[in-house]
Amino acid sequence: MERSRASSSFLLLFSVLLLFLCSFTPVCIASRLLQVESEDVRSSLLANGLGITPPMGWNSWNHFNCKIDEKTIKETADALVSTGLAKLGYQYVNIDDCWAELSRDRKGNLVAKKSTFPSGIKSLADYVHSKGLKLGIYSDAGYFTCSKTMPGSLGHEEQDAKTFASWGVDYLKYDNCYNDGSKPTVRYPVMSRALMKTGHPIFFSLCEWGELHPALWGAKVGNSWRTTGDIMDNWESMMSRADMNEVYADFARPGGWNDPDMLEIGNGGMTKHEYIVHFSIWAISKAPLLIGCDARNATKETMKILSNKEVIAVNQDPLGVQAKKVWLKGDLEVWAGPLSGHRTAVVLVNRGLRHNRITAHWKDIGISPNKVVEARDLWKHKTLKTRFMDNLTATMASHSCKMYVLTPIS
Ligand SMILES: *[C@@H]1O[C@H](CO)[C@@H](O)[C@H](O)[C@H]1NC(C)=O
Ligand SMILES: *[C@@H]1O[C@H](CO)[C@@H](O)[C@H](O)[C@H]1NC(C)=O
Repeated sequence: MERSRASSSFLLLFSVLLLFLCSFTPVCIASRLLQVESEDVRSSLLANGLGITPPMGWNSWNHFNCKIDEKTIKETADALVSTGLAKLGYQYVNIDDCWAELSRDRKGNLVAKKSTFPSGIKSLADYVHSKGLKLGIYSDAGYFTCSKTMPGSLGHEEQDAKTFASWGVDYLKYDNCYNDGSKPTVRYPVMSRALMKTGHPIFFSLCEWGELHPALWGAKVGNSWRTTGDIMDNWESMMSRADMNEVYADFARPGGWNDPDMLEIGNGGMTKHEYIVHFSIWAISKAPLLIGCDARNATKETMKILSNKEVIAVNQDPLGVQAKKVWLKGDLEVWAGPLSGHRTAVVLVNRGLRHNRITAHWKDIGISPNKVVEARDLWKHKTLKTRFMDNLTATMASHSCKMYVLTPIS
C-alpha cells in the first residue's frame, strides 16, 4: 500500500516534470499547437511544384533597406546577367519592404510607390523576365509591413495574391509585423490558399522569424520558412543564425527549406574567411542563397565567394538533405550531410580565435569505417592526392573553414 502510493506519487511527479520540460522544447510546443490549431493544414496547401532545390537569387533588404527604386532593381537584374551570377543559378530578383504607397487605391489594391517605382511592378517584372530572371515581391501577414510605409496583406490576401499574379510576380516573401496577435499558423495558410487560387506558381517564403517553429508546419504552407530573426553583418549574428537553423535540419526537404536569412557576403562587416564560412554553411544547410549586397559593383573577392560553382552544387544537390553539426568540441565543429551518388559534404569550422586542427571521423559523418574516399577541397578546387580512410584532418585559421566533398572509391 505504502509502496504503491509512493510509486504513484513518483509517477505523478514524473509526469509533471515531463510536462514542464516539454513546455520548453520546440517540438512539444509546436506539436501541441498543431493538434489544436491546424487541423486543416494537414494536407499541403501549396502544391506549386517550386523549390525542388533551395531558391537562389538576390534580395534588396540587407544592403539597401528602404532605399530602393526601379532603377536599382533593373540594374541589379542587368548585373546578375553580366557578371555570370544568373547562369550559376541566381535567378530571383527580390524586392523587399518599401515598394508600395502607404494607401491602397479606391478598389483596395496595392499601388507601387510613384516616386520610386513610377513604371509600376508589372513593367519591372516584364523587364526582369526579359533578362531570363524572375521577380520577387514582399508583403506582410499584418496590417502594415515592418517599415510601416506600406500596407500588409492581412484581410486582403486574395486581392493581393491576384494583384501579384497579374503583375507576373514569381516569389513572395511574407513578413510578420503589425499582425492582429493571432498565430502564424492561422494567418500564413490564408495566403498559401490565395496564392494557389491564382493559378500562377509563386514561391512562398514564410518570414515569421521562427517564432512558432515553422519548420514543424511550414512544408504544408510555404516553400521556405525563416527559422530565425534577422541576420546582421557580423560573425556572431551569422553563426547564431546557422546554429538556430541547424536544429531543424530534419524538416528540410525538396519543396520546403529552412531559411536562416539572406546572405551578407559583400556588405563589409566580416572578413573574407568569415564570409567563406557563411557561404559554406548556408550551402551545406540547403539554405536559400539570396545575395544581399550591391550586385552592381561587388568586389572580385565577393564575386569569387558567391560564384563558387562547387559549393553551389552542394546547395543544389538533388538529394536535398540538410547537413547537421555532427561533432563539436569547444570552438571546433564538423558539419556534414549526404549528397547524391553516395557522396558526403563536410564543413570543418574553427570558431575560435586560434589556429587549430579538426579531425572528421567517418563514424560521425555517416561513412562506413572501412570506406576509402577521395576528398575534393571546394575552396581550393583541388582533389587531394592522399586518399582517406576512417578520418580526415585539416588545420585552419581562426574564423575559417574547410569544405570537402568525399567520394567513396570502390
Ligand atoms: C555601386 O554602383 C552604383 C550604381 O552603379 C553606384 O551608385 C554606387 O555608388 C556604387 N557603390 C560603390 C560602393 O561603388
Ligand atoms: C585516422 O585514420 C588513420 C587510418 O586511415 C589512423 O591510422 C589514424 O590513427 C586515425 N587518426 C585519428 C585521429 O583517429
